[in-house]
Amino acid sequence: MENTAELKLEGKIYKLPVIEGTEHERAVDISSLRNDSGYITLDDSYGNTGSCRSQITFIDGEKGILRYRGIPIEELAERSTFIEVAHLIVMGKLPSSAELRRFSELLTENEMLHEDMKYHFEGFSASAHPMAILSAMINAASCFYPELLTSETMRTHFEVEAARLLSKVRTIAAFAYRKSLGLPIIYPRPDYKYTANFLHMLFSLPFKDYELKPEMVRALDLIFLLHADHEQNCSTATVRMVASSRANLFASAAAGVCALWGPLHGGANQAVLEMLTEIHRSGDDGSRFIAAAKDKQSGKRLMGFGHRVYKNYDPRAKIIKRACDEVLEKLHVQDPLLDIAKHLEEAALKDPYFVERKLYPNVDFYSGIIMRAIGIPIEMFTVIFAIGRMPGWIANFKEVMEDPQSRIYRPRQIYTGPPLNHYVPIKERH
Ligand code: CMC
Repeated sequence: MENTAELKLEGKIYKLPVIEGTEHERAVDISSLRNDSGYITLDDSYGNTGSCRSQITFIDGEKGILRYRGIPIEELAERSTFIEVAHLIVMGKLPSSAELRRFSELLTENEMLHEDMKYHFEGFSASAHPMAILSAMINAASCFYPELLTSETMRTHFEVEAARLLSKVRTIAAFAYRKSLGLPIIYPRPDYKYTANFLHMLFSLPFKDYELKPEMVRALDLIFLLHADHEQNCSTATVRMVASSRANLFASAAAGVCALWGPLHGGANQAVLEMLTEIHRSGDDGSRFIAAAKDKQSGKRLMGFGHRVYKNYDPRAKIIKRACDEVLEKLHVQDPLLDIAKHLEEAALKDPYFVERKLYPNVDFYSGIIMRAIGIPIEMFTVIFAIGRMPGWIANFKEVMEDPQSRIYRPRQIYTGPPLNHYVPIKERH
C-alpha cells in the first residue's frame, strides 16, 4: 500500500508520510511541512486535524461505532459498571477481581475532602452555577496535594492520583449542589459504592438517609458510563493541551470542566431540557421549534441534535433512549417532555434539512429526561457529564504525560490583522 502522499507547492513536490491507525483510519503527517516548505496547514475548528495518536477510544462516526479500549459501548452498557469502565479507560484494561477491589478501596479512601476545603465553598454566592464551583474546587484541591506538582509522583503513583480525582470530584459536585440550596453538607458513606454514594450525598437529610432505588442508581451509573470518554472532543483536547505544558492533573481536569460547560458541548444536556420545557410551556408540539431551528436568523438550534463526528445515530443516544423508557416505566413517571422529545426526533429524522446535514440525536437528547426522573436538578446535568467524563480526561492526561515524544501543544495561525504600521502619539490620533 502507498504510504506517502505527495503535495505539490510552487512546482516542488513534498513527500508526506501516511499514518494508519488500528482500524485503518488514515492521516497525512504534515509535521515536517513547515520546516521543509514554509507552509502550514489551515483547518478552522480542527474539523479535519488529528492532534495526537491515542489508544483509548475509537469512534467511526459514519457507522455509529464507539469503543473504549476496543470494547463496543453496547457491551459495556449492558454488562459493566462505571467504575469497571473507569479502570478500563484509565488503567488500560478490564480489572481482575483483585484489581477492581483495590481500585474501589482507593476510591473509598479518597472520598473525603480536606476539612479546610469546606471554607472555600462558603465563598460562592448561592446562585453560582455548579459548573463554576466544580471547576474552581477541582483546581483548589491541587493546593492540598503538593505531591501532584511533581511529575515523579504522578508517574509512580498514578493509580492513587487518578482514584483521588475520580472520588473527590463526586464529593465536590455533591457539596456544590448542597451549597446551592443552602443545605448542610452530607458526607460520603464508605459502605456505599460510587454512584449510590453520590445520590446519598445529593439527597440525604442530616438524620435521614436517602432511600436509594436500584433502578435510579443503575440509570445514573449508565449515564456516567456512556460519558466516560469520547476521544478528542473540545474538553478532552483542552485537557491534553493544558497537560502538554506539564500542568498537574487537577489543573488539567479543571480546564476540561470549563471547556465542557458550553451549550454546544456538555452544556447541551441542560439546554435540551430548557428547550423541551419551553416547547411544552408554549403549547407547541415541536413543529414551530423545528421550523425555527432550520432558520439561521432565529439563533435557535435543535439542542441534542447533530455531532461533529457522528454522521449517523450516536450509539450512546440509542442506549439512552431505551434506558429512558425503562426508567420512567419502573419509576412510574409520566413525563410530557419525553413525548415532545420523541415527536421532535421523529419529525426531524423525516425533515430534509436534518436528513441532508446528517443530523441525528446525540447523547444529550434523552439523558436529561432520565436525570429529571431521578430528581437531579437541571443545573447539575452538565456536572453529571463532567463526573462521567473524568476517566477519559485522566487517561488522556496520562497519555500526554507518559509519551516521551510529547511536546507542548502549540498550533499555528494565519494572521489576518493589519500590516506593519507604527505607534502614533495620543495627541496626533484622530
Ligand atoms: N440544529 C439545527 N441545525 C444544525 C444543528 C442543530 N442542532 N447542528 C448542526 N446544524 C446545521 C448547521 O447550522 C450547519 O448548517 P449549514 O451547513 O447550512 O451551515 C450544519 O448543520 C453543520 O453544522 P456545524 O455547526 O458546522 O457542525 P459542527 O460539527 O461544527 O457542530 C455541534 C456540531 C454538535 C456543535 C452542532 O451539531 C450543534 O450545535 N448541536 C446542538 C448542540 C448539541 O447538541 N451539542 C452536544 C453535542 S454531543 C455531546 C458532546 O460531545 O459534547
